[in-house]
Amino acid sequence: MRLVRLIGNLGYGSRKEVAAMFRTGRITDAACEVLYADDKVAHADIRIDQEPLDPAQGLVLMLHKPVGYTCSTKDPGRIVYDLLPPRFRLRSPVLSTVGRLDRDTSGLLLLTDDGALLHRIVSPKSRLSKVYDATLANDLRGNEAAVLASGTLLLESETTPLLPVQMETLDARSVRVTLTEGRYHQVRRMFAALGNHVETLHRSRIGGLGLQELPSGEWRALQSSDIEQLFNT
Ligand code: URA
Repeated sequence: MRLVRLIGNLGYGSRKEVAAMFRTGRITDAACEVLYADDKVAHADIRIDQEPLDPAQGLVLMLHKPVGYTCSTKDPGRIVYDLLPPRFRLRSPVLSTVGRLDRDTSGLLLLTDDGALLHRIVSPKSRLSKVYDATLANDLRGNEAAVLASGTLLLESETTPLLPVQMETLDARSVRVTLTEGRYHQVRRMFAALGNHVETLHRSRIGGLGLQELPSGEWRALQSSDIEQLFNT
């Protein structure tokens, strides 16, 4: 791929703007030699204003999403992309969230520009579990774990029961649930169907991958070992 296109696709600017960056000598190799748009240089050897280029296509990252941010590019309020470098929102192919977390849910969110990987993560065939910690408005009745495990619970306005959900009681009003499906607002609707109400919700794990002490609001790029861990369940 030509350098102008490669750099433009990483969100550094339009083709015209990137061409101007070449002309003004802002794009160099690792030895500070000015590059030209038709040079053939490895991604790792390109510098813009002496800084290495953003990661190439195939980027996967984890974000510790705080409450109050939506998984959207268009919402007028706070969006998860506000927590990433502004260029990441301009990349082509787009950096998409892998599924969504509600605005009021915190925790582990993956983003990627790798469509095949995204489908593999969300595909029911992969059976990747998701672990959520929820605090509830009312004390548990005592039968919730059994009902969730039975695979018979119907959510409002649905006709297919949920697949079995594993529930661990942490205290009278807090639980850890492990799901293998990702229905719309599933955890909140599940507890509504059980006559309760979720007050706070946090996702701590997807497949074999946890947040690993990543502070709220921060992100990091995943390595291939993280992806292996994700699918290693
Ligand atoms: N279930 C929910 O209700 N909300 C989320 O954000 C994720 C799962």
